[in-house]
Amino acid sequence: MTGSGTKANGGGNGMRGTGKRLAVDALIDDPKTRIIVCCGSGGVGKTTTAAAIGLRAAERGRKAVVLTIDPARRLAQSMGLTELDNTPRVVKGVTGEGELQAMMLDMKRTFDEVVLAHSEPERARMIMENPFYQSLSAGFAGTQEYMAMEKLGQLRSADEWDLIVVDTPPSRSALDFLDAPNRLGSFLDGRVIRLLAAPAKVGGRSALKFLNAGMGLFTGGLGKIFGAQLLTDVQTFITAMDSMFGGFRERADRTYRLLKAPGTAFLVVAVPERDALREAAYFVDRLAADRMPLAGLVLNRVHDTGAPQLTAERSLAAAETLEENGSEHSSPAAELLAAGLLRLHAERMQIMGRERRTRDRFVSVYPDVPIVEVAALPGDVHDLDGLRDIGDRLGGSAPS
Ligand SMILES: Nc1ncnc2c1ncn2[C@@H]1O[C@H](COP(=O)(O)OP(=O)(O)O)[C@@H](O)[C@H]1O
Ligand SMILES: [Mg+2]
Repeated sequence: MTGSGTKANGGGNGMRGTGKRLAVDALIDDPKTRIIVCCGSGGVGKTTTAAAIGLRAAERGRKAVVLTIDPARRLAQSMGLTELDNTPRVVKGVTGEGELQAMMLDMKRTFDEVVLAHSEPERARMIMENPFYQSLSAGFAGTQEYMAMEKLGQLRSADEWDLIVVDTPPSRSALDFLDAPNRLGSFLDGRVIRLLAAPAKVGGRSALKFLNAGMGLFTGGLGKIFGAQLLTDVQTFITAMDSMFGGFRERADRTYRLLKAPGTAFLVVAVPERDALREAAYFVDRLAADRMPLAGLVLNRVHDTGAPQLTAERSLAAAETLEENGSEHSSPAAELLAAGLLRLHAERMQIMGRERRTRDRFVSVYPDVPIVEVAALPGDVHDLDGLRDIGDRLGGSAPS
């Protein structure tokens, strides 16, 4: 089911229109599925999908944990995620034999945990008090993506759950998540760091002079923040971190391999709009290029209607007739209301048509990528009932 590239998970064909249907329940019920990664561009419903899948898996009997990155406040509260303690907590209100735990990623604390786990206490303290470290751990580009990977690696090796559902950061580039291990790796053992590390290793005045010249590279960014102190800070930092460089790379590589392994399934989340699906297509390509196991596309916030047989044209025509001629059987106020509703229906039918065409274009380019559609709900998804509703739609058991 998982691990066979873009052709994975054929599922049935229970969807109107073209394309294969993504069988979400088969995916989450399969004991071989151990990790599900929800990715996609910002605001499309990654966090919602990850939480809904975690909940559904738990209520279908699995022991699941969901790693959220930036849950909306009300959603976080409903899952009991009020403390940022960076470890999974049991979610209350889950029914059935399974269990759901949830956590939200605290980037800085994850970085601290890495430092604490891999260095002597005294050295760890030195690193963590270092301003350069504090800046790096609080927001160096890519740190959040890297720390999400780090956390995933930690959760997987703790081996306490049989399914880990991972949300991904709201990166500007949707691909940062995949790039993270390389990027942080090359930052940490890259040119600038080596240059800065030189005096710490070599010592002596000439190396220091060389470093001062090299600092020109830095004065635009970090140099401004820390001024003259930067030099000392970076040197101390590098000396202290030196022993950990290998460790960072190794673990990043291990997590990267974990993502590629059978048992991992990627879900690309998108909304049925042109730009969002263009990004989704890019993501599908990128996953394929990296040989990451794509399970399918979650097309979220799709509009539907209770009266699909009434076309936009007929609906508009009826509204016009009512407005112009009225009806013998009703009051003018009722006619106005009916005409308004008919116009709303026409608008919705037009949106649906546009969404269907956008979707069909995607399907014509990626006929092998299974898709599941999730309806746009009238309000936000901010509690377990809302997540259950999304889960029902993902699983295909919601009333249409
Ligand atoms: N199917 C849906 N129907 C209605 N609202 C939704 C749906 N999916 C997500 N939302 C809402 O959209 C907003 C963004 O969702 P979120 O999961 O946080 O996106 P992302 O994690 O991709 O940035 C949230 O307010 C969420 O409640
Ligand atoms: Mg999110």
